[in-house]
Amino acid sequence: METAFITGATDGIGYELAQIFASKGCNLIIVARNTERLTGIKADFEARYGISVTCYTADLSVEHNACEVYRRVAASGAEVDYVVNNAGFGTSGLWTELEWESERGMIELNVVALAYFTKMFARDMVARGKGRILNVASTAAFESVPYMSAYAATKAFVLSLSIGVAEELKGSGVTVTALCPGVTASRFHQRAHTEETLRKAWILPQSSPASAAAYGYRIMMKGRLYGVHRAGNRLSMWLIRFLPRRTAARLAASTTH
Ligand SMILES: NC(=O)c1ccc[n+]([C@@H]2O[C@H](COP(=O)([O-])OP(=O)(O)OC[C@H]3O[C@@H](n4cnc5c(N)ncnc54)[C@H](OP(=O)(O)O)[C@@H]3O)[C@@H](O)[C@H]2O)c1
Repeated sequence: METAFITGATDGIGYELAQIFASKGCNLIIVARNTERLTGIKADFEARYGISVTCYTADLSVEHNACEVYRRVAASGAEVDYVVNNAGFGTSGLWTELEWESERGMIELNVVALAYFTKMFARDMVARGKGRILNVASTAAFESVPYMSAYAATKAFVLSLSIGVAEELKGSGVTVTALCPGVTASRFHQRAHTEETLRKAWILPQSSPASAAAYGYRIMMKGRLYGVHRAGNRLSMWLIRFLPRRTAARLAASTTH
């Protein structure tokens, strides 16, 4: 039986991805902060799909917690075939006014934990000659986004790192894929205070977490470098390349401000 390691598997896109792997008979190792949600999913998926689910309660926005989770997974002897670095959150507001602690935590989760898991699990996968990693970026990775400046920067890091490492690992049997969802209706927007962005869905087509997850799973299994979810988003991200960066940033600001 194969095993998938998924961060942020208790809600939104991560939950839907966990469900896809479970429905294919894959054992799960899932990570999030909410123990109750984790154990509820464990009981539900084990009963429904006859798989085994291991839960780790961890706040990955706290320094060193990703190292501790990896250490425990390695010590358990589990061989991880798939890694989904999905856990992430965004902040919105004026950069000069946002609290540093929430920005630091976001960078720790979206960038540091993701980079660490990508490194450590990719090493193990290369040694075994097979494995697939899916890193959840965003359409925000393609442009600067005023009022979500640091969030967009974390996602630009995810996209760039994933493509670079995928190329380094060519021929190793290990693939790295970046999923770039557009606006997706999840709790993300409550936490980021971007509910207004959801209301501007006429500018940015809105998706369900299930459809973003199904797309992510498909492109990961094909070993694609990256994929932008939904045709409308793909067209926008393609057009953005031809705009001056300031113009692209101003357009992005119209959705966040
Ligand atoms: N929603 C969108 O419009 C959108 C668009 C593009 C990209 N994305 C990206 O897609 C990914 C998933 O987002 P989503 O929309 O599915 O968000 P979501 O519904 O808010 O789910 C986030 C998941 O991550 C976990 N999580 C959050 N903070 C964590 C922490 N500090 N440590 C460990 N786990 C943590 C949450 O569980 P706990 O709360 O229990 O920790 C939850 O399982 C993120 O990387 C996000 O940046 C989202």
